[in-house]
Amino acid sequence: MNPNPEIVAFFCQWCAYAAADNAGRARLNIPSNIKTVRVMCSGRVDPEFILEAFKKGADGVLIAGCIEGSCHYKTGNLQTAKRVMILSTVLKSLNIEPVRLRFEGVKADDPEGLLRIINDFNNTVSLLEPLSCEV
Ligand code: FES
Repeated sequence: MNPNPEIVAFFCQWCAYAAADNAGRARLNIPSNIKTVRVMCSGRVDPEFILEAFKKGADGVLIAGCIEGSCHYKTGNLQTAKRVMILSTVLKSLNIEPVRLRFEGVKADDPEGLLRIINDFNNTVSLLEPLSCEV
């Protein structure tokens, strides 16, 4: 159990980050253990960024972008979904539980949806032991 996991969240500017902004405006509470990194598109999240986050102590990495068909760069989110699937296999080979990495799509005008994603991921990662890895 890890009640306060370190989570790095890569949010695409157009949907997930906008949803986080809207969550703030609506005074919804984003857990303080979520460290947000804004990227232009989820497709910009290089696998190296993810491995580096784990290497530097993240217990989980959440990538949130636009929902299917809404990526402002057309296919960035689809590429990310594929990448995450492939990286899951890599993580497994490094003895890192693949559930520590997740990609989700969210709409900018759905801050509650983003919060559900964050809380669900947070709960999943907090059920695991803290991660100390040599990636
Ligand atoms: Fe949001 Fe591509 S712009 S996922």
